[in-house]
Amino acid sequence: MNSVLELLVLTLLINGAFSAKILGIFQGFAYSHQQLGNKILYELAARGHQVTAIIPGPFAPKTTIKNYKPVKIELPDFIEDKIPDLYKEAERGIINRVLYMDAMGIIFGEMVFNQTTVQDLLKSNEEFDMVIVEQFLNEAFKGFCYHYKAHCVVVSTIGTSRWTDFQMGNPINPSYMPDVLLSYSNNMNFCERLVNSLTFLLATVNFFLFTLPKHNEMVQKNFPGAPHINELYFNSSLMLLNSHVSINSAVPLVPNMIEIGGFHVDPPKKLPKDLQDYLDEAKDGVIYFSMGSNLKVKDMEEGKRNAILNVLSKLKQKVLWKWETDSLPNQPKNVHLRKWLPQQDILAHPNVKLFITHGGLLSTIEAIYHGVPIVGVPVFGDQLMNTARAEVGGYGKGVHFKTLTEEAFGNAVNEVLNNPKYMENAKQRSKILHDQPMKPIDRAMYWIEYVLRHNGAPHLRTSALNLHWFQVLCLDVIVFIAFVVFIVIFAICKVINIACPKGPKKLKLQNKAKKKN
Ligand SMILES: *[C@@H]1O[C@H](CO)[C@@H](O)[C@H](O)[C@H]1NC(C)=O
Ligand SMILES: *[C@@H]1O[C@H](CO)[C@@H](O)[C@H](O)[C@H]1NC(C)=O
Repeated sequence: MNSVLELLVLTLLINGAFSAKILGIFQGFAYSHQQLGNKILYELAARGHQVTAIIPGPFAPKTTIKNYKPVKIELPDFIEDKIPDLYKEAERGIINRVLYMDAMGIIFGEMVFNQTTVQDLLKSNEEFDMVIVEQFLNEAFKGFCYHYKAHCVVVSTIGTSRWTDFQMGNPINPSYMPDVLLSYSNNMNFCERLVNSLTFLLATVNFFLFTLPKHNEMVQKNFPGAPHINELYFNSSLMLLNSHVSINSAVPLVPNMIEIGGFHVDPPKKLPKDLQDYLDEAKDGVIYFSMGSNLKVKDMEEGKRNAILNVLSKLKQKVLWKWETDSLPNQPKNVHLRKWLPQQDILAHPNVKLFITHGGLLSTIEAIYHGVPIVGVPVFGDQLMNTARAEVGGYGKGVHFKTLTEEAFGNAVNEVLNNPKYMENAKQRSKILHDQPMKPIDRAMYWIEYVLRHNGAPHLRTSALNLHWFQVLCLDVIVFIAFVVFIVIFAICKVINIACPKGPKKLKLQNKAKKKN
């Protein structure tokens, strides 16, 4: 009896005894970013923490949620102009993409600080114990942690990258860690490593010399009296990463970087009756087609769309296609359109044989979770890298949107449908993702509350964060050793010179002279 009581008290102490005040800042304007942020913040609210969330209005919950208060921000019209046609994004070169992302980050940051709702929140005497901020080109938001004297938790909507590793003092090495904006997997040949290293160098120099100082200006403007951003940027207590070894390749992680990939996936729910029947009755299987929530398939160039339709029309499988309009020119008989589809629940159906996707990370994770092979048609951002990983992992094929032809797309689709290796590898990955000691969302909660319990958990920080970059790379030591070696060699030469002042050359000449005599 006593031990049961003790257990109860202990459980209460760990779970319910403290309710923290938490500010969540997920400013990413895309549904995929918000889906991740909301999952974490709703779960914290459900556990009794008081959550305030800075969130773009369109993504705020429609109903009131207990313990959860949204601070809505608007996305001004100019966002539409500044975000180019996403399909065009595929045409940009890598240097352009790197500089463009950094520049976008500064505009997004200003945009959030310019909102009256955010300024009102800053002026109010609201207090927070913890600030959870999405890592997305928004370094200036570290100022919120300073402003509230709150522990900083960072959530990366992708795995590790130069956006995550520098600030946590995590090892980063371009020889086997491809840049997020490139289309490489972790197995790179010499040329790829060369391009990757140069991209890494350019992006790093641009970030620390030009981008971070701009974020510092934003910090100084919005949080008067704040220290330089260099003191805030490297001071996060915890980083949660939307990655896992079943999805990403294995990389080193310092103890306060925790992988929670797959946390957004819910257990499959019952499908609507018509969809259930459609999937049950597909004796040759179903191909699920979706380009995610940002890309509109109707904006896709007609030639490429027809190439895709021609390939699909020749298949015996049924195709379930997420499409934003009611009809589709040249729609084949086996293609069924819907404006909205419950993607996770469809992928859970055993008759789904293939997922044709833009290669977005959440779609890729859902495919792995349910063990469905993919054909990726990547367009921008990390989609190229996700698709490259699927190819190396043997659970998918990629056809870059930029170079999509009927032949290339047809080959990829038929290869994945007809070679059982892809399905087997997808199922294997799924097993790895599910084989974990605790559910990813529970792990996220555990570590967030751990940071609260241990007052910022400074013991998890690596000492690399206390050193300058050249000290981390041992450059100072190398220069010192090189200097000492030089001095020693120099001294030896001097000693030889003193001991034999005539030197070897002179001796030889003298010998020659002697011989002549
Ligand atoms: C933010 O406000 C300032 C001052 O009103 C203005 O100059 C700037 O263009 C605004 N920035 C954005 C991204 O809205
Ligand atoms: C760094 O983080 C710790 C732990 O959360 C906090 O106590 C400290 O004030 C922070 N430092 C700065 C400069 O904000």
